[in-house]
Amino acid sequence: MTEITSAKPVSFLRAVSLRQVRLACGLVLFAYLVSHFLNHALGNISLKAMAIGVHWHMEFWQFGPVAFTFYGAATIHIGLGIWALYERRQFHRKAIEPLQLILGLSIPALIVAHIVGMRLSHVLFEQERGYEQAFYTYWVSIPIKMWLIYLTILISWVHGCIGLYFWLRLKGFFQAAAPWLLALAVLIPTLALLGLYQGGRTVVRDSASPEWQKQNLSIGEMGTPPQQEALENITNALLAFYLALLVLALAGRAIRFVAERRAGMIRLSYSDSRTIRVPVGLSILEASLRFSVPHASVCGGRARCSTCRIRVIGDTSTLPAPSPREAFVLGRIGVGTDPAIRLACQLRPTADLSFFQLLTPHAMSANAHASRPQRIGQERYLVSMFVDMRGSTILAEHRLPFDTVFIVNRFLAAVSQAVSDCGGQTNQFIGDGALVLFGLACDPPTASRQALRAAAMIGANIEELNKALQHDLPDPLRFGIGIHGGEVIIGDIGYRDHMVFTALGDSVNVAARLQDLTKSLACEAIVSQDVCTMAGLHPRDVPSAQQVAIRGRLEPMAVHAMTDARMLAALVAQAEKVAG
Ligand code: FES
Repeated sequence: MTEITSAKPVSFLRAVSLRQVRLACGLVLFAYLVSHFLNHALGNISLKAMAIGVHWHMEFWQFGPVAFTFYGAATIHIGLGIWALYERRQFHRKAIEPLQLILGLSIPALIVAHIVGMRLSHVLFEQERGYEQAFYTYWVSIPIKMWLIYLTILISWVHGCIGLYFWLRLKGFFQAAAPWLLALAVLIPTLALLGLYQGGRTVVRDSASPEWQKQNLSIGEMGTPPQQEALENITNALLAFYLALLVLALAGRAIRFVAERRAGMIRLSYSDSRTIRVPVGLSILEASLRFSVPHASVCGGRARCSTCRIRVIGDTSTLPAPSPREAFVLGRIGVGTDPAIRLACQLRPTADLSFFQLLTPHAMSANAHASRPQRIGQERYLVSMFVDMRGSTILAEHRLPFDTVFIVNRFLAAVSQAVSDCGGQTNQFIGDGALVLFGLACDPPTASRQALRAAAMIGANIEELNKALQHDLPDPLRFGIGIHGGEVIIGDIGYRDHMVFTALGDSVNVAARLQDLTKSLACEAIVSQDVCTMAGLHPRDVPSAQQVAIRGRLEPMAVHAMTDARMLAALVAQAEKVAG
């Protein structure tokens, strides 16, 4: 194994934040909502169709493991919502996050009576209530409840859609999928509301008949008066308990506010000499938002993007230690060992602090108004390739500057030609090297094969170039290539007129480091095993994998070193042949 830094196992839990847990639970609840709303929509056909639908709906959601997951997700999601009410100190002024939180917190209060009436009545008293009984209760007995149900449907749907939007907006497919998702977001609740309206109308009409009442409002379905009273008491107790939790969270906020003021104020100094005074306990990103200081935060403070990162100036010994999640993100971008680099959304300083923002505030904000919205930060899978010309310094020492530029340009032209022939995009020229991206318009397996084929073609093009320049060069041109793939953020980066489209992320950094490694491993190209697997290369055909430690990563990585990049062409051809 090539040893560059020490490697430690990464704990899975470090990579998970509370918001991700809340999202996972929210997705379970959203799936339940879709199922339930589609069930309501069957009311547009008939009450019988609704009864059949609810039977299968209950069969699925009351199946042991599914029920356990569902009730667990509901409890955790509600608990984390209350925690967010306490914990979140500052909301983005223009964002819909506060609205989402308020809507989310109102849902348990709105549905507690429905859950007790429909589910707990069955568990405690074996009452068999279905759509008929619910419609009778909400549409006939106490008609105001009908509007409460409509309101609950709309609130829970809007809350879920906002959560989904915050999750999906950074995904690569979102732009293309957005119109379809919007259509579904409108269609599903509309059909559900219409279904309830039709079903309710049918029950209002039929319930006038004593025959219908005898069939549908028996004691076995609606319970005895004492049972109904017991259910009402349970509803009131649960409601009171939930409201008490909300009051507790708000009281906690008030106590914290006073305690923080007592603990004192601290001074935060930005690199542009701006200084603000904030109470102890606020994160730096929250402080920036509170005082309207522009601060990049693509993921909205969720510790997912690292764009809010800052470099602390001066003493770092007073800083609180990074949380596991912050340490994980910093480790992923290769700065985990530098105590001065921190995530502004996670760092809550306890003493005066000076710092500068590492990413320009206007460049990456997903909330910013951009003239080209499609180039706002998006998360997607790309294969990154770094290509670097070897020995250009020595070349420059022995030649006129114009001559050196001419040769470097020929080298970069040979690289770019190969890249565009294979479907990639030369994204940036960095001195005598280049960052190349694959996968902007194709799926990951195709992008991986394109990258490998491009590496082989670069090898062939440079060989041609060496032949053409053989009388001019003391030694042939040599190069190093690093290739790795993974989720990155793509978008415009820069300031005002100097914006460039590029990719940021761990896999880009790793590709650069693999390219560096080609020097010590004396080879032309190093390809991560992930990319080889994604491209469909058979392990038998590829040079055996070796574990290398990558600076800034805690875990070693399996890679394949190619002494001759051109051999990749045959490997890709073989993989494509096998795939048919
Ligand atoms: S805002 Fe994304 S990590 Fe801090």
